[in-house]
Amino acid sequence: MTDLRSDGAAALEWAASYLQRVGELPVLAQVKPGEIRAQLPQSPPDEPEPFSAVLRDLDEVLLPGVTHWQHPRFFAYFANTAAEPAILAELLSATLNSVAFLWRTAPAATELEAVVLDWTAQLLGLPSGWHGHIEDTASTSTLAAIIAARATTGRDLIVCSDQAHSAADKAAKMLDMRLRKVPSDDAFRLDLQALGDLSDAAVVVATVGTTATASVDPVPAIADACERDGAWLHVDAAYAGSAMVCPEHRWAFDGVDRADSLVVNAHKWMLTPVDCSLLWTRRPADFRRAFSVVPEFLRTPSEEDSFSLSEYGPALGRRFRALKLWAVLRCYGRVGLQSYIRSGIELAELFERWVVDEPGWELCAPRRFSLVCFRLEGDDERNRRLLERVNDSGEMFISQAVLNGRYVLRLAIGALRTTEADVQQAWDVLRREAAAL
Ligand SMILES: Cc1ncc(COP(=O)(O)O)c(C=O)c1O
Repeated sequence: MTDLRSDGAAALEWAASYLQRVGELPVLAQVKPGEIRAQLPQSPPDEPEPFSAVLRDLDEVLLPGVTHWQHPRFFAYFANTAAEPAILAELLSATLNSVAFLWRTAPAATELEAVVLDWTAQLLGLPSGWHGHIEDTASTSTLAAIIAARATTGRDLIVCSDQAHSAADKAAKMLDMRLRKVPSDDAFRLDLQALGDLSDAAVVVATVGTTATASVDPVPAIADACERDGAWLHVDAAYAGSAMVCPEHRWAFDGVDRADSLVVNAHKWMLTPVDCSLLWTRRPADFRRAFSVVPEFLRTPSEEDSFSLSEYGPALGRRFRALKLWAVLRCYGRVGLQSYIRSGIELAELFERWVVDEPGWELCAPRRFSLVCFRLEGDDERNRRLLERVNDSGEMFISQAVLNGRYVLRLAIGALRTTEADVQQAWDVLRREAAAL
């Protein structure tokens, strides 16, 4: 059985000491597939066990199978840092266990969600008056936007660049819609010359901060084309959107005020634990038409109706996710968020300079935000082996992309605890392992 006070204190102590020592653990889990499962009982216990047994097995069985996203040398994909205020808020949100499908089932969660979306819109310089709600992931946010676009336009074609996230491909597959990939230019931005006619397009998914290189599509011109041909414009700023808290990066949001919908993941670069994907629209009535299904058991008096966030997306039951983002916004403030974003970008600039200055290494795309794409001189196989070696070392974790048919390495900065010493260590490991190839 569980005693919330004493077991809770032990869990909190576990969390605090984990965050203190996470930098000493191997970033990438050093286990083989199936190894963790083999250590776990095949059947559940018949008799209740103490919570301390869960904590013990977390340490002894599960921890070796954890890839540490909170590690200061986690440089793969896009970082996803959970800051302390949000970790605590997750505990409180599970304690309240609000299920926010109707206003009356969770008035505070529903109204706080509107407030934090509005606050974040202000921080990112978005137009006032947009309707925002939280989905689990950017994949779901983009799926929801595409559903709203199809319902509104009555068309079935999705258009995006060849650099857009595979969430667009997945949405096309799930919705049985057509997908047209527009080639990108030499800086990996959607090539406007190739955009062509959009009069049969339901939606164009433009990306601000693509997954491979963090390139920024020419949103103002795409917005012109969408307006001209009656297509919905969805902007995917899942990663880079958070950087708009700094005015010097707002150029990348040029034209985004004309989008019909926009996604920014607070769980990527805004210190909020997964999952927390922010979806705004300037066309809430179209979203509601696309998603609203209200059987008798969900009917409420009309003054409550317009608050039901479950009418703006796929899910009915909705977690109290706003609480963790609220905790971040309050405990960091605009200034704290700016300094976190700026420090990640400065460290990426430093790494970029080291790559450029070192013979035998090559920068493979213009650095955008906190992402550097680079490779070692030589063929793809050499770079593939290098990636495996540095990741196997446990000292750092990076991922890869293919650009113009070539295999490249990606180092993305964003973990809260990353310092210059961590980036220096990553560069040392890369050069050491390259020399040993
Ligand atoms: C630009 C972009 N869009 C969408 C996604 C998908 O995010 P999620 O895992 O929240 O679905 C990613 C993930 O890295 C991304 O980089």
